[in-house]
Amino acid sequence: MTAGSSLLALLFPCQSLSFVSGISSVSSLLDIRSLSPNNVRNYQRQLRGVVSFAQKIKQTRRSSIVQTPGNGLPRFIWIYCVASDSVKKALHVAVIGSGGREHALCDTISQSPMCNKLFAIPGNAGMRACAIVVENIHPHETEKIVEFCKHNEVDFVIVGPEIPLVEGLVDKLTRAGIAAFGPHSNAAILEGSKVWMKQFLKRRNIPTAQYECFRNSQLAKSYVNKQQFPLVIKANGLAAGKGVIIAEDRTTANQAIVSILDDTMFGSAGSEIVIEEYLQGEELSFFALVDGLTVIPFGSAQDHKRAFDQDLGPNTGGMGAYSPSPLCTESLENDIIQNILKPTVQGMMEEGRPYRGILYCGLMLTKDGPKVLEYNVRFGDPECQVICPRLKSDLLQVLYKVATGDTKDLDIEWHKNLWSLVVIMASQGYPGAYQKGTVIQHLQEASNIDGVKIYHSGTDLSSKGEWIATGGRVLGITGIGNSIQQARDKAYSAIEQIHWPQGFYRKDIGWKCLHIETSGR
Ligand SMILES: Nc1ncnc2c1ncn2[C@@H]1O[C@H](COP(=O)(O)OP(=O)(O)O)[C@@H](O)[C@H]1O
Ligand SMILES: [Mg+2]
Repeated sequence: MTAGSSLLALLFPCQSLSFVSGISSVSSLLDIRSLSPNNVRNYQRQLRGVVSFAQKIKQTRRSSIVQTPGNGLPRFIWIYCVASDSVKKALHVAVIGSGGREHALCDTISQSPMCNKLFAIPGNAGMRACAIVVENIHPHETEKIVEFCKHNEVDFVIVGPEIPLVEGLVDKLTRAGIAAFGPHSNAAILEGSKVWMKQFLKRRNIPTAQYECFRNSQLAKSYVNKQQFPLVIKANGLAAGKGVIIAEDRTTANQAIVSILDDTMFGSAGSEIVIEEYLQGEELSFFALVDGLTVIPFGSAQDHKRAFDQDLGPNTGGMGAYSPSPLCTESLENDIIQNILKPTVQGMMEEGRPYRGILYCGLMLTKDGPKVLEYNVRFGDPECQVICPRLKSDLLQVLYKVATGDTKDLDIEWHKNLWSLVVIMASQGYPGAYQKGTVIQHLQEASNIDGVKIYHSGTDLSSKGEWIATGGRVLGITGIGNSIQQARDKAYSAIEQIHWPQGFYRKDIGWKCLHIETSGR
């Protein structure tokens, strides 16, 4: 059996299939379930169209099509594209997004020998040092992105933020014959709908908090009446990290229910809610690269969501992070892979939503073992800013291989004994209202420090050549060292160089981790 045919057996467990043998490597799987099997002749014509399309894809030498014998029409059908012997060594790459996450990706990818040209769409001013910034295209303008990529002969697109993934950017790029890193929209639902995600975890027996879903506020309130507190109330859809309320008492819970369901504070993202059991424990972020079937661990991190020291103040997009997490022992990692990630990936495949890209699993480490809080379908920000500097392997090559299903010999290497820690500098007032256009000085001196990387997320250059703050989260100051303490010292020594009176940052990033180190856990 070839690698391809064993993959087929997994895809079609209950169908007998004819398969063109002699295929050495599977480079791409194209999902063509959008074809309508209404009548056989029309269906076959559509299939032929897809085959010739697949053959036109640049890095493809041969394509073959999976067929059911006789007149049977498969519910799903996939096309295999076989890697050419001469896969282009130097790629034209585009990274979609404008935050510190995308700056970290661009900075790392720009150093790859496989990278010929790198576009950041829309990028930010800080990324001009490593990429061609295409500031007039918004990440949500999916048609424009596809047009731009065709026009500029982009071979490979890496999608940073979740909204374009949920809205089907990877589907559109794939249809246009452009390789893309990230899940198709039918798999991005893992992040796009918390209701769907919870129901999926339940039917797959994957550990998560107990929950109920509601569309009606009266029913939700009467459910809340019978529950213990705290309770967690979550808007179903994407709410930019603001859609989760931890209710300590009934009044807060009822207010949250009314605000989301009746007052539509999150618009259609809040037309349904999840009410779930509050889980106690430490939080851990675990990352895996997934090519549809294979789960390749890609590091762990812990972040700091609250705005102020000692985890006080409002929730933010993240004020700092470190990687790896000392909580993530080898046995915990095995537990997460075996009992959470593999069943998730297998389940997605079986349900016709094969997952490809990075799977970011938000976990609560409870006394009964790790439980899934949420899935994200993209790199975390700021977590990406601490994962990238630790990677020894060529990031572009790794992501390209995952996106094109060529993971058979993929071996991820990390720098040994290397820790990284990022401290986010934000505009005063964030996550609420803040002033724009304030001047940041001495960034160059800070970035000259050995073992420091500065990733931009909300900056611009003034006509005088000064860095100015244009966003809430503005800079990610990442320290890299041989211990978490050293990484932390580097980051804070860089911050001391920076003069920005209108900015603020947390002074205690890494405290949990250092506490664990000193207490010998
Ligand atoms: N069941 C839960 N028990 C305890 N805390 C939770 C629970 N669900 C979420 N949280 C807290 O709320 C935060 C945000 O929830 P999450 O599901 O990650 O949503 P999002 O990141 O989309 O806002 C988590 O990082 C965690 O701190
Ligand atoms: Mg989260």
